[in-house]
Amino acid sequence: MTLAISDGEGLANLLNFPGSKGGNGVWQTIISEMPPHDLYVEPFCGSAQVFRRKRRAAATILIDSDAAVTAAVIAEYSEGAGTTVICDDGARWLESNLGRLNTRTVIYCDPPYLQSTRRDKTPRYYGEHDFTAEQHEDLLRVLSLLTVQRVPVLLTGYRSDLYDRRLRRWRRVDYPAMTRGGPVTESLWCNFERPWALHDYRYLGADFRERERVKRKKARWRQKLEKLPALERAAVLDAVNSLSAVIVGNDDTSCKQKLAEWRQRAGEGTP
Ligand SMILES: C[S@@+](CC[C@H](N)C(=O)[O-])C[C@H]1O[C@@H](n2cnc3c(N)ncnc32)[C@H](O)[C@@H]1O
Repeated sequence: MTLAISDGEGLANLLNFPGSKGGNGVWQTIISEMPPHDLYVEPFCGSAQVFRRKRRAAATILIDSDAAVTAAVIAEYSEGAGTTVICDDGARWLESNLGRLNTRTVIYCDPPYLQSTRRDKTPRYYGEHDFTAEQHEDLLRVLSLLTVQRVPVLLTGYRSDLYDRRLRRWRRVDYPAMTRGGPVTESLWCNFERPWALHDYRYLGADFRERERVKRKKARWRQKLEKLPALERAAVLDAVNSLSAVIVGNDDTSCKQKLAEWRQRAGEGTP
């Protein structure tokens, strides 16, 4: 079901959303692991803190089983401009849409934490939209179907026996996060190798200092290039682009061919 725009009543609740990924350093870590994509899907969107900050994909689908949540998101981000908000079960939606998800899709899953990993053991944290251990098992099953299909998936949560066992072949990135109960270590699992190219480079860097260092470096290089005569700048950029073709497609023959072509044009001969 796709909801109509609501009166925004639920909007205030989104600001204090439990489990939100709006904490400093958290959304930057997640965005800086996403490979380039055309379709972005968040099947447990909540207040969609990652979606809000990442560079938009050509198409985005935000899903939550809680109609009040999807209504509030729609009220804030009126649908259109490539963004669709759907009220549905995240795992069911993924399973019934397997056919339209491919290697140019990125799926970011942030389901309610496994009850056994929560400090606050109060049951029904998300009311009737909480997640049972069986639902986690089922989600992991659907994610393994996506892995077979080579659809890039990112999943956040706390480590547990279940996740350690089922995601042992996935790459895990641990990051510090702040909760109402104090500092914790959360984990991000990815079913792909560290990407050679990113969808959004703005937040690259393991921590604030590193992100600032990368930002300064980008500004410095940009300034240097801006000062060059136009054709000299184009020549430097052409050389740099040929390098990134090799990095991005290090086992891709079409990229090696691109480099050979560039070297020939540049008078270096075939490598
Ligand atoms: C940890 S929160 C997501 C927080 C979000 N990443 C943010 O930045 O605010 C988990 C969300 O999953 C939703 N949810 C629970 N069960 C679901 C289900 N079966 N399908 C889809 N969404 C579900 C909850 O309503 C909640 O909004």
